[in-house]
Amino acid sequence: MSDNNSYPVRADIAQQAWADETTYREMYQQSVVNPEGFWREHGQRVDWIKPFTRVKDVSFDYHRVEISWFKDGTLNVAANCLDRHLDTRGDQTAIIWEGDDPADDKQVSYRELHEQVCRFANALKSQGIRKGDVVTIYMPMVVEAAVAMLACARIGAIHSVVFGGFSPDAIAGRIIDCNSKLVITADEGVRGGRRVALKKNVDEALTNPAVKTVEKVIVFQRTGGDVEWHSHRDVWWHELTQLASPHCPAEEMNAEDPLFILYTSGSTGTPKGVVHTSGGYLVYASMTHQYVFDYKDGDVYWCTADVGWITGHTYLIYGPLANGGTTLMCEGLPNWPDSSRMSQIVDKHQVNILYTAPTAIRALMAEGNAPIAGTNRSSLKLLGSVGEPINPEAWEWYYKTIGDERCPIVDTWWQTETGGIMITPLPGATALKPGSATRPFFGVLPALVDNMGNIIEGATEGNLVILDSWPGQSRTVYGDHERFVQTYFTTFKGMYTTGDGARRDEDGYYWITGRVDDVLNVSGHRMGTAEIESAMVAHEHVAEAAVVGYPHDIKGQGIYVYVTLNAGIDDSEELKKELRQWVRREIGPIATPDIIQWAPGLPKTRSGKIMRRILRKIAADECENLGDTSTLADPSVVDNLIADRANRR
Ligand code: WTA
Repeated sequence: MSDNNSYPVRADIAQQAWADETTYREMYQQSVVNPEGFWREHGQRVDWIKPFTRVKDVSFDYHRVEISWFKDGTLNVAANCLDRHLDTRGDQTAIIWEGDDPADDKQVSYRELHEQVCRFANALKSQGIRKGDVVTIYMPMVVEAAVAMLACARIGAIHSVVFGGFSPDAIAGRIIDCNSKLVITADEGVRGGRRVALKKNVDEALTNPAVKTVEKVIVFQRTGGDVEWHSHRDVWWHELTQLASPHCPAEEMNAEDPLFILYTSGSTGTPKGVVHTSGGYLVYASMTHQYVFDYKDGDVYWCTADVGWITGHTYLIYGPLANGGTTLMCEGLPNWPDSSRMSQIVDKHQVNILYTAPTAIRALMAEGNAPIAGTNRSSLKLLGSVGEPINPEAWEWYYKTIGDERCPIVDTWWQTETGGIMITPLPGATALKPGSATRPFFGVLPALVDNMGNIIEGATEGNLVILDSWPGQSRTVYGDHERFVQTYFTTFKGMYTTGDGARRDEDGYYWITGRVDDVLNVSGHRMGTAEIESAMVAHEHVAEAAVVGYPHDIKGQGIYVYVTLNAGIDDSEELKKELRQWVRREIGPIATPDIIQWAPGLPKTRSGKIMRRILRKIAADECENLGDTSTLADPSVVDNLIADRANRR
């Protein structure tokens, strides 16, 4: 296979970057030959209250998976993101906030952010929150979302941020799983000129009888819209913080104390509460942020991810703030009021580094040159991509149109579970190939294995695994370590299984080919097929449902659902509409099926297992080459599904 164009490193960038090719090679070598020494040195990049003496205690053996880093050290993550910058950069802007309305923005300095976090940390304490308690955050993209996260970190509470697009049911499930004691939300969010009823969703979630632990709901007033008020439980953010003292000591936390839980979809079951701890996570977040984005003092950095996803945690909040950076947080959408919004924001705030997702790039690309109309984007130095494979056409468009052929693109591969970027170019060190995430970050040992778990060398394709731990790695699944072990350490023994497939070329560059399990990646959002299926079959007319992904021009993957209705129920376009609405209500708009096809029968093996491989091919219109269908209980269902494709929509 040809590797398309290659873009060599620009000499002027290499010269002033944190790492050029030689530095990358030396540091990488050191990091894998002597990880203890490497991370002992780089562990110093954060401020420790009690310095660590141990660096790495790791076992990937599935009998006793244990992962700890810096485990006898203590620190506070919020103090590292705020207090330690006050002397040198108290008046520097920490967060630039850009509202949904283009006329709305503000700048918050490190000193102001510190004060807000201290006040809100005291507010949390006044509501009974203590070290080790879990707090659910269901917020729009406002500065207060960052304040809430950092306030939890300051007092040692564990935050669990739930994406503001999730439904009441999804919120309830995530509250029940981690027994959270308090919910922080806003009256309403604003996106693309529309209001989102956040408080109402929380109210509804809390009517679920299985939610037993939530004592208080703190409500930030964003729009002043009408909300129902439950005075025994609901408290206003502004009332609490007015009363609260601006002084709040930072709790001394062990490096391995949990910092947050973040729910993510897997191939089976309900979403997993991925747990990240304090010390290793922060070291890794700050180091990757510095090197991958070549972050320098004074740079304005914009990550477009929502705080509800891991990218929003690591590269909107923790990484940039730990580095004393200026991070831009945008409440709205990249294409509202029109498709030039992203470029307008770049010009308005003189953004130097832009980190976004392929789905946003493809959506803009479809608009021709409108996305850059009237803008010059000359402040940009570097572009980043994350969340899904970027197709070379979108890469080239991003490079030429947004970046004016001036800015290197870092295509960063990583996962909720990895905490930070794992495979990526470094702008001063790595020649770029459009579509390739290129090479491993310091301390990361990727490998490809065949389906038996044998490591395969050279230019080849296989399952992507990681052979040893890195400080940002997730430590467990909240409340279910066994599930953590089962999911990540049993498929291939002694290694971390990523669930992704990849190809490695002659230059040792990695090309991520996508998930090898039943996880979809829709517009950069991870969706479990099992979750959508179980939402579907909860509808009274649905007997069975099978969900697969299919190639989608903008979303990367679309959601394709085969539905078998109960006997006696007639299919109709109205019912399709109703089922779409149903899934939106059950999970959230991001799970809305793109295509529903009625399936009087589904292809199953004689033991009753649905053969998704075949369903995927039919969805992708690759019907010529269905592979072996001889194990099917009733091969004629396949012919019927193929014949009936015309009726899907
Ligand atoms: C996919 C997002 C190709 C991959 C940070 C992974 C990517 C999943 C890339 C994790 C990339 C993420 N190239 N694929 N640069 N980045 N992925 O947990 O399938 O939301 O396993 O973390 O997204 O999604 P998650």
